[in-house]
Amino acid sequence: MSRIIQRNGRKGFYLQVVVPRELREIIRTSTIVRKLSNDKAESLKIKRQVEEQIINKFDEIKFKYNFKKNESNNLIDESLKKELYEKLRHHFFEPSNELNEKGIVLSYWHCIGHDVDFKEINSYQIIKFFNAEVIIHNYRGKLWAFENCCPHRGAKFLKKNFSTSQITCPYHGWTFTPYSSYIPRKDKFPEINSTSEVRPKLWKIEKINGFIFISYKPFFTLHDQLGKEVVDIISKIGQSINKNYSSQEIIFNCDWKIAIENALEPYHVSCVHKDTLSPLGISDGENILYDWVSIFKDKIKSKKVRNSKKIFEKMLQIKYDFDGYWSLYLYPFSMISSTEATTFAHQFYQPYDDGNTTSCLTKLWCLETSKEQYEETLNNFYKSVSETNLQIFQEDAEICSYVNKGIWNKKPLFFKSDLEVKVDHFRKCIRNFESIMSSKY
Ligand code: FES
Ligand SMILES: [Fe+2]
Repeated sequence: MSRIIQRNGRKGFYLQVVVPRELREIIRTSTIVRKLSNDKAESLKIKRQVEEQIINKFDEIKFKYNFKKNESNNLIDESLKKELYEKLRHHFFEPSNELNEKGIVLSYWHCIGHDVDFKEINSYQIIKFFNAEVIIHNYRGKLWAFENCCPHRGAKFLKKNFSTSQITCPYHGWTFTPYSSYIPRKDKFPEINSTSEVRPKLWKIEKINGFIFISYKPFFTLHDQLGKEVVDIISKIGQSINKNYSSQEIIFNCDWKIAIENALEPYHVSCVHKDTLSPLGISDGENILYDWVSIFKDKIKSKKVRNSKKIFEKMLQIKYDFDGYWSLYLYPFSMISSTEATTFAHQFYQPYDDGNTTSCLTKLWCLETSKEQYEETLNNFYKSVSETNLQIFQEDAEICSYVNKGIWNKKPLFFKSDLEVKVDHFRKCIRNFESIMSSKY
């Protein structure tokens, strides 16, 4: 017996299947609830298929149970019950996504880029978080952040992810700057006393030496979220970045948490990036963990890379120097990494509302050139770094699409390894977020 239900405080439609009486003792529940979809028609469409999967699973368990019971002369073995119970805690039966992910978006500071991405007046970037979009816009040299949703009747101000534009709604022309609002034919709106009351939904924006952070209602101050040491590192890098060489977008067909965890461990490099990252000779490296930040660093074994560093050192103004590969993860969605401090890459992972798509915006930032004559050589170098980075991310996106949907959980890793310390740290951040949330609300 089954039916479609809705659950209090949860979005979408769920299938509720009654567990046969004889299996209740093993499964330790009388019903199984499984999310179908957020859409009613879609839920009706897949209901039968999901129901069949669950019933097949019941049959499988019933068969095993009866078989073993017969084998042991009808004595019901406790360990058998336990074994079968474990099976039913299989991810297939768990509503996968109970995490308040939108709470994560609103409660943290997000490093979305650097001043060099917004050099031109009116340049902007759109950052997507589930079904919300935030525009970061340069208005006459002042950056401001607000939701891409017109307060009039909800149209998007802009559609292209990066470009230059003023903020005028295409629907009825409402226009905004950080300081003012303009409503055409304002006299037709008797309830609006003053135009300045009408504003798009503003986000907070803060900077650390050019790095731009946005947040809506953060748990912490930006400095408290990052901690002093990380603020120092970011300040030094922020000073040395001079130009945005490229911005690219890669679509991952997986949940954002899978994409992030993939970016946090070097274990997959030799399997997944055989020809791209692996030749650098990155190995186990060293991990440094803070509350909401983790760092991975490693020496590079490739002689070719180390020699080219010697050449580029003369051509670039390296203000913050280090050897090897280095990557900084800023919970929840951003990473900054560098090879030999000659270029910096930034990734911002944007979760989609469908729970199975993540867009990764990746930028390549370069340093100041020491003499003009090196420009051309350096441009060739940046071009090749940018192309290789894109290839690496495509490899990552491909492997992440192999990870089963709904398999992720916030528990510490079951198989622990030194190579995945940052993955465990990420899960700990998720659990810490949840405990802050539950103490607050
Ligand atoms: S919806 Fe934007 S001006 Fe009407
Ligand atoms: Fe990777």
